[in-house]
Amino acid sequence: MGGLRFGFFIICEETLDFTTAYQAKEHQNLAHVLSHRDFTPYIDALLKLNQQGWHKIFKHGDFSRWSQGLNALPDVQADVDISHQVCVQSVAHTDKEKVEQALKQLHPWRKGPFDILGVHIDTEWRSDWKWQRVLPHISSLQDRVVLDIGCGSGYHMWRMLGEGAKLVLGVDPSPLFSFHFASIKRYQPDAASFLIPTGIDEIPSGMQCFDTVFSMGILYHRREPLEHLYKIRSLLKKGGELVLETLVVDGDETTCLVPSGRYAKMRNVWFIPSVAMLTIWLQRAGFKNIRCVDLNTTSIEEQRSTEWMTFESLPDFLDPKDRQKTVEGYQAPKRAVMLANYDF
Ligand SMILES: C[S@@+](CC[C@H](N)C(=O)[O-])C[C@H]1O[C@@H](n2cnc3c(N)ncnc32)[C@H](O)[C@@H]1O
Repeated sequence: MGGLRFGFFIICEETLDFTTAYQAKEHQNLAHVLSHRDFTPYIDALLKLNQQGWHKIFKHGDFSRWSQGLNALPDVQADVDISHQVCVQSVAHTDKEKVEQALKQLHPWRKGPFDILGVHIDTEWRSDWKWQRVLPHISSLQDRVVLDIGCGSGYHMWRMLGEGAKLVLGVDPSPLFSFHFASIKRYQPDAASFLIPTGIDEIPSGMQCFDTVFSMGILYHRREPLEHLYKIRSLLKKGGELVLETLVVDGDETTCLVPSGRYAKMRNVWFIPSVAMLTIWLQRAGFKNIRCVDLNTTSIEEQRSTEWMTFESLPDFLDPKDRQKTVEGYQAPKRAVMLANYDF
């Protein structure tokens, strides 16, 4: 099989062609969709970010493996059921073992679950459980333009689209997630959902383009959480809704945990406020109508190792003698869902 030199890597032509073609088509569709919405001043910037993000992906050391996995998925007509799940189904005959082998090239699968052509991907996280906690409380997504910051594999993006959103943009700089997303998107190329492989910091401030912005599982990873909230406010249309899901600790309006080192073995956790303190942060960032609609201690049924994510997971991050604590002795992960509006 022939090979091309791309960056520092030799990549087989077939897989380069497939991923290149997929990316080019996505880019073209994104340009088309943005030009038909209120994005005019930002179209060039967003398209440039998309190109730059993919440029990094093409240069990634695991690109060849991921691309081969994506390419090995069968090229069949399929429907994607996003009503209550994310399930790619086809009447065409497909070889389940081959599909499974292809998808395993995209290990680790963290956010899901997904069903792809008869293969059930039991991801590390039951992201569907988070969605069940969020969905009953938020404004209807029907005909809304939505941004999902830190969208991961795009699992929630598909569920947002399933709720009738007009357009869902996701941003996430982790390259593997673009392949997880592509494993679904390749079967519904015209879906109004796009994962831009970039970080939220690169997205232009002040866009005021989105009816709903989701920031789920992000705030505690930020060293400047108030800046993050200000940024979100600047992205929302007036009257738009923020859906903020983040780690919290028990306590009053003076409580915020700043771990001295790792938290639940994670190096990049900076601020874990109480709900009362988080409410003040949201007020200070200019949000109105702030409410906490759900509180939930993460269970070891919701986050655990599976055959699709074989590394350590929540059971390894908790004190084996006291599951109410992390291995470092902090309060075990508890998550709040907060809603707030810009200019309510
Ligand atoms: C804990 S996961 C949350 C995923 C998903 N939103 C959820 O709630 O299940 C955090 C995600 O944020 C992404 N991320 C990291 N830095 C980011 C940044 N600067 N901008 C946007 N996303 C980022 C990570 O790649 C990861 O997918």
